[in-house]
Amino acid sequence: MIPIVDKNLEQYAHDHTKPEGEIFERLKVETHKKMSSPQMQVGRIEGQFLKMLARLVNARRILEIGMFTGCSTLMMAEALPEDGQLITCDISLDAEKIARHYFTESPHGHKITICMGPALETIAKLTEPFDMIFIDADKGNYPNYYEECLKILRPGGLIAVDNVLWSGRVLKPEDEDTIAIDTLNKRVTEDSRVENVCLTVRDGMMLIWKK
Ligand SMILES: C[S@@+](CC[C@H](N)C(=O)[O-])C[C@H]1O[C@@H](n2cnc3c(N)ncnc32)[C@H](O)[C@@H]1O
Repeated sequence: MIPIVDKNLEQYAHDHTKPEGEIFERLKVETHKKMSSPQMQVGRIEGQFLKMLARLVNARRILEIGMFTGCSTLMMAEALPEDGQLITCDISLDAEKIARHYFTESPHGHKITICMGPALETIAKLTEPFDMIFIDADKGNYPNYYEECLKILRPGGLIAVDNVLWSGRVLKPEDEDTIAIDTLNKRVTEDSRVENVCLTVRDGMMLIWKK
């Protein structure tokens, strides 16, 4: 594993990013207590970054692929107007239970609709355009998620994809997940329908703007 950012610098960046708020502290503690891979949560820097992106594109409709216990979901929901909508997908019932609890408690929870089931099946049923899409689920489907999401993203809309550097494994793609991530990164960079930038935020974030 290659550390993308020096540990002390990462901590400094964290300490100089606004805290997410008390509800996120409790969500983090519960996720660490009850879930086996709590490190999947986006955390403060990426969470605030997603929220900032949602504000910058004036998002009214957001799609999230990979809700887990709802940290990134709630961060983005906070950026939506009162009548904004966030549709989020997952397959884990354990994660859903925790997420639902915090969505009910949050004053922004009414903007969120949870769609349980394989995300590709959920996406196939969506027709109204989205302003922003966050992709953070099973890596093997990343190229499929990209193609399907591009169809339902409005022109001028934004896709953010998490884990595109995959702890450095993309430098030598060997397993299926890494090959899928590398395929997506190459496809996006060559795709004339979009502009993109690959950022070294956390585990790598690809920002994709649809022309
Ligand atoms: C990295 S976690 C998402 C973390 C979340 N964004 C957060 O910040 O807390 C990935 C999630 O994708 C879900 N997932 C995996 N395969 C999926 C699929 N085919 N369809 C929908 N969700 C899936 C997993 O259950 C897991 O909760």
